[in-house]
Amino acid sequence: MKQIQTILCLLALTPILLSFQQDDELKTSMVRGKEIFIANCVTCHMQNGEGIEGVYPPLAKSDYLMSDKVRAIKQVLEGASGPMTVNGIQYNGFMAGFDLSDREVSDVLNYIKNSWGNKSEAITPEEVKSVR
Ligand code: HEC
Repeated sequence: MKQIQTILCLLALTPILLSFQQDDELKTSMVRGKEIFIANCVTCHMQNGEGIEGVYPPLAKSDYLMSDKVRAIKQVLEGASGPMTVNGIQYNGFMAGFDLSDREVSDVLNYIKNSWGNKSEAITPEEVKSVR
């Protein structure tokens, strides 16, 4: 009887333990992503992700960034240019693509999509690979 109780208890805990593990993966990905952000993105999008209004769009609370995951992956890989509206402000600039690995792209996106008030599910290197 005790054994059955233990097994049932472990079964009940599994989803909780798995969600802790996922949180951990996101956190370590964000730690790596912060380094990549500082090395590649901070000069334009700024340390606090606020960018420069009218010139470099914000990543912090960016409606544009948060609304389309595949587009965000593509923009880090291939760059972005042409008109876009971010949080109601028009931009028409140019950003070159980045020569980063699948994991680096997922790490930097996990950092920017979960910092400065942003919150979203983790992006995996496999997702980046499928968009590339
Ligand atoms: C040389 C300046 C510069 C650097 C460095 C740069 N960006 Fe950008 N980024 C821009 C500009 C300019 C745009 C808007 C392009 C347009 O108007 O079409 C943009 C747009 C974006 C967007 C979509 C708009 C938004 O704000 O949601 C994302 C996401 C983004 N950049 C992420 C990054 C990431 C991640 C890095 C680093 C890997 C990076 N950028 C590095 C200049 C830069």
